[in-house]
Amino acid sequence: MKSSTLSARDRLIVALDFPTQAKALALVSVLSGSISIYKIGLQLYTVAGPAIVQAVAATGAKIFLDLKLHDIPNTVAKAVAAAGELGVQMLTVHLSGGSAMLQAAVEAKSPDLSLLGVTVLTSANQETLGEIGIAEELQAHVVRLAELGQKCGVDGLITSPQEVRALRECLGEEMTLVTPGVRPAWAAADDQKRFTTPDEALKSGADYLVIGRPITAHADPPAAVERLLAEIGD
Ligand code: C5P
Repeated sequence: MKSSTLSARDRLIVALDFPTQAKALALVSVLSGSISIYKIGLQLYTVAGPAIVQAVAATGAKIFLDLKLHDIPNTVAKAVAAAGELGVQMLTVHLSGGSAMLQAAVEAKSPDLSLLGVTVLTSANQETLGEIGIAEELQAHVVRLAELGQKCGVDGLITSPQEVRALRECLGEEMTLVTPGVRPAWAAADDQKRFTTPDEALKSGADYLVIGRPITAHADPPAAVERLLAEIGD
């Protein structure tokens, strides 16, 4: 899915962080066809399962299933294969699962499924790493995991906007970089602390932006999408 020729619209991933299938589908319906990719995460998938993936995919949109897999290699491989059969185009795995797990995941994926690695969650800090016995400096640990992912053949990474430029420089142009934690100047920060604007994230080298509440909680979601796209050049 990596391409320097993607339009701004194709770079926008809307996070369907809703507690019910009905609420998620209501937003997809309001945005009717104007969004190329939706992200379905743990909450919605736990509530609504494969049916929500199929229902959103039936609108013609691509699906980013954000399950952040981390388990023994055999179990992760089976889950990756199942996601491919479900028709998902992007799926997350924790890079901290190690090379055996990552290679099993890469081998199990279909060619049209992009496997995206999670380095260190942005909710974690140096203290969090210390708690689980990791003494390495956080940024160095992010780069270590990113390089492990690249060596094992993952297609891309989830990164904070602050890390995009460094990761792009160190991993090259082929790696797909997907960034949440972006906020247009006109939107509330919500609980995001270290964010950049969508435009800044793309200029730093991001390929895709994940945006939730600035669109999903907006009084007029289609207007929010169009305003955002105008800012990033569609
Ligand atoms: O509503 P908002 O734009 O903050 O949503 C961002 C989405 O990206 C949410 O689904 C959130 O879980 C996800 N995310 C994030 N920061 C990360 C990783 C994922 O905001 N570091």
